[in-house]
Amino acid sequence: MLPLLRLLQDGRFHSGEALGAALGVSRSAIWKQLKTLESELGLPVHRVRGRGYRLESQLVLLDEDALAVSASSSGWPLSILPIVDSTNAEVLRRLVSGEVPPFIVLAECQTSGRGRRGRNWVSPFGENLYYSLALQVDGGMRQLEGLSLVVGLALLRALRLAGVVTAGLKWPNDVLVDGRKIAGILLELSGDPADVCHVVIGIGVNVNMLAETGDIDQPWTSMRAELGCLVDRNEFVFELNRQLSLYLGEHEKRGFSALRDEWQESHLWQGRHVTLTMGARPVEGVVLGVDRTGAIRLRVAGVEQSFSGGELSLRLNDDS
Ligand code: BTN
Repeated sequence: MLPLLRLLQDGRFHSGEALGAALGVSRSAIWKQLKTLESELGLPVHRVRGRGYRLESQLVLLDEDALAVSASSSGWPLSILPIVDSTNAEVLRRLVSGEVPPFIVLAECQTSGRGRRGRNWVSPFGENLYYSLALQVDGGMRQLEGLSLVVGLALLRALRLAGVVTAGLKWPNDVLVDGRKIAGILLELSGDPADVCHVVIGIGVNVNMLAETGDIDQPWTSMRAELGCLVDRNEFVFELNRQLSLYLGEHEKRGFSALRDEWQESHLWQGRHVTLTMGARPVEGVVLGVDRTGAIRLRVAGVEQSFSGGELSLRLNDDS
């Protein structure tokens, strides 16, 4: 199906005859593949008599050749899957079967994309970025301190360089534009943090999604919605790899404390009145910043306290 999609990704009309000739198959074989595109990948195809077929919207498919250049500059080999349950789950399976990190898995679509706190991550075909990087953790727990926040900084930098200049961070590692989520990060560990351990850095970015194709339970936006034009996902992966390689290198050498000020400058909720939800016990306080491990510092009833997990929400009476 991918060769057919490559021909159709420009969003223009192509006759069944031309598509068949380009792929060396019959017009009825093309027709069957088009049906599969619609039923299995959820990609609407328009048919107009005398003009042929076109995708409802233009796509920029991930391109092995373009991304190979990026892989060689970061030193992280990369594979692209058309469809997978979750790129994080795929990386964890590969680690169990002995694949040696670092490596990246990207997919055009996820059928069970994982979000934080057991949420689903809506992952329509060909529109967004579903990216997982496997790394070996050599420095024990210290190497994990603040890691997810540093990944957020690298992602934020890549988004700003792509033109989404008003993007900012929400602890621990959401990326928001005007209160709407544009990207999220899910770190998963495999092995024993005190011994041999691997970390999977899962990144989801709303790149070209304009219409909601699943149930997203919070306000969201995409790079395309912000920039008003289709974004080349291959170029974005290139920049994301570059920024991750720079920021992770800095974090490995100097630890999170070297990046803490930069993180706080990009934190959209510094000084805001928030509720932190952890299990059943909400905590209300004012955001002071993060500590050297990446835990959030809140002033709670006049006393500073740090929390390393939970979900922040703005308090309704926050007028800061
Ligand atoms: C969040 O809830 O904010 C985290 C979302 C992380 C989604 C990405 S998409 C690529 C990787 N694979 C997954 O199943 N999840 C992460």
